[in-house]
Amino acid sequence: MEIEPLHDDFGARVRGVDLTGPLPPNQVDALHAAIDEHSVLLFPEQDMSDEAQLLLTKALGEPEENHLLFGRTGEIAHIGTIGNVIDAKTKRDESDPHTQALKGNNLWHSDSSFRLVPSYVSILHAYEVPAEGGVTEFVSQRAAYERLTPAKRAEIDSLHVLHDYVFSRTKTAPVDDNHAASLPPIEQKLVRTNPRNARRNYYVGSHARSIISWSGIDSRRLIDELNEFATQPEHRWSQAWQPGDTVFWDNRCILHRGTGYDADRFRRHMRQTRVRGAGPTFEE
Ligand code: OGA
Ligand code: MN
Repeated sequence: MEIEPLHDDFGARVRGVDLTGPLPPNQVDALHAAIDEHSVLLFPEQDMSDEAQLLLTKALGEPEENHLLFGRTGEIAHIGTIGNVIDAKTKRDESDPHTQALKGNNLWHSDSSFRLVPSYVSILHAYEVPAEGGVTEFVSQRAAYERLTPAKRAEIDSLHVLHDYVFSRTKTAPVDDNHAASLPPIEQKLVRTNPRNARRNYYVGSHARSIISWSGIDSRRLIDELNEFATQPEHRWSQAWQPGDTVFWDNRCILHRGTGYDADRFRRHMRQTRVRGAGPTFEE
């Protein structure tokens, strides 16, 4: 496995590994170690399929069920579509409610931070990409935490935060009632520690609604401040997708967002799986 760093704070391009074949245990260990170390991993030229992506996801842990499908219909699927492609001939336009719902991904977030057991990593594979736009941006809340003053770190270290999908996602599109009912607000630690390397990070993003036992105004001041501090343009790394790219990101410490594309003009076809985290963050 050849690992080439992509940004000062995080991220690496990884060559010399075929994610689509059976992975020997030492390669799985090396992938976990690279996730702990680099937080975002880009694997170009992967000949991916849904079956291979599901096997890869299972090799890394327990696949998370897609909350959108489960929330709306009760059906369980461990892979989901990102983008606007329905099949080889048809796509969803800008006016399609599903296209509108996916625009919530354009707010900085950590996948599934609104679940009691949030996600460890997301795996996104690109099949078709728009000629313009559709870039995904990433920042590290580990680097951001390390840039805080010691006084600020001490102020936030033991706080807990309410995360709420309906709070964040109704900003961009309505959330179906069944889906909303399936995702009550839950509590997370504000500061998390990587169990392997003991590096700490804060954990906010758009699903972070309020600080437990703080007023609304004080809550929003702190959460907005931490989000802005982490997402300053100079700290971002952008993934301009090529078909065949597979990207892993560590949701425990990374924030990401989509940047949008014109769904009336372009097709964007990506498939996503998520590996469940080790447990509720307040037990970490
Ligand atoms: C996601 C996501 C952003 C994008 O897949 O979880 O937020 O660029 N994607 O599609
Ligand atoms: Mn996401």
